[in-house]
Amino acid sequence: MIGQALAGSRVAVSLGAGGVGKTTVSAAIALARARAGERVAVVTIDPARRLAGALGLDGLDDEPRRVAEVGPGQLWALQLDAAATFDRLIARHAVDAAQRERILGNRIYRHMSRSVAGSQEFMAVERLHELHEDPRFDLVVLDTPPAQNSVDFLDAPARITRAMEARALKILTAGGGGGGNPLRQIVDVGSSAILGVVERLTGAGLLGELREFVGAFDGMREGFSARARLVGDLLRSELTAYCLISAPARVPLADARALRARLVADEIQPRLVVLNRFPPHAGADSADESELARRLRDANAVDADDLARRAMANDAAMRDARRRAEDHAAVVEAEFPSTPVARVAALDPEPVDLAGLDRIVAALEGAADTAG
Ligand SMILES: Nc1ncnc2c1ncn2[C@@H]1O[C@H](COP(=O)(O)OP(=O)(O)O)[C@@H](O)[C@H]1O
Ligand SMILES: [Mg+2]
Repeated sequence: MIGQALAGSRVAVSLGAGGVGKTTVSAAIALARARAGERVAVVTIDPARRLAGALGLDGLDDEPRRVAEVGPGQLWALQLDAAATFDRLIARHAVDAAQRERILGNRIYRHMSRSVAGSQEFMAVERLHELHEDPRFDLVVLDTPPAQNSVDFLDAPARITRAMEARALKILTAGGGGGGNPLRQIVDVGSSAILGVVERLTGAGLLGELREFVGAFDGMREGFSARARLVGDLLRSELTAYCLISAPARVPLADARALRARLVADEIQPRLVVLNRFPPHAGADSADESELARRLRDANAVDADDLARRAMANDAAMRDARRRAEDHAAVVEAEFPSTPVARVAALDPEPVDLAGLDRIVAALEGAADTAG
């Protein structure tokens, strides 16, 4: 299933609300393609610690590391370091070493590159593009950051460009030291991203640094914008496959719907929907409470009747959860008629190593119904 869903793509982007298992499923998608013979790099964002360990991501830098014992293809993993990616982007576009140093050392730049909302999304796609151009990889899988509004993802390149273009700051520099509060002027032209940074910085020399920041970008803006356009184009091209990760429950599915609507607005069809943590099958309905109590008594259980009653209630709750999930899945399948829907079981123990990820791979391949 996963091979067909990603056929012809060089990039796979996982989208979904926070906590649905985006990082885990992204790693499993990458592993599936590496098991199928491709050379795959997965960009993870905040992997659970043990999963990071299993992927060999104990290092602090964001260079891809080869994950051992994966074949016949290759699996490489890295953890996104948005600030380091931003610094590389600056280094690439600076006209000379002096300009590069001036920007990298500027306090406004440092805060903006490390804290402005949206810069993490942009750097995720920037890193994606770097890896896409890296001849070592056939496929790059991107686990996306938990955006406040996850549908903003596609707009990240355009948004960051607007912030960097800093029309606001041009006005500010033109205004010189003359009348008016410089912060006020920034607000007036609506560059709230930069305002947020400036508000958090205080002290003498701030205005000077702000001017230097603006000046430092002279000659670089064009290259920077062109790069953002290139990244935006890749995100909208046939080479990029979007996978919607959700859970078979009301709220995450509402998020998945919003994400799909956002994709469709850009004429993109998602290639795969993953319903993660599908509740397992419970025992059959037909079990009899008094029969269970009798067997428990035979086994010398304390409070056998009570135990039997609670076990039955627990089974019933599990069956209910399973039924509700099935209902949600049926709705998803009807709503996404041309998109394969993969079910991944709620695994116990949690999938924090390659063996765990391989169980998800089996579900993604459709080779095994791990949903039980
Ligand atoms: N199919 C699954 N079965 C059991 N636990 C899972 C499954 N998928 C993810 N998890 C667990 O859920 C937690 C959140 O997963 P994670 O991939 O980090 O989510 P996200 O990236 O969407 O925030 C982790 O502890 C992970 O091990
Ligand atoms: Mg995550």
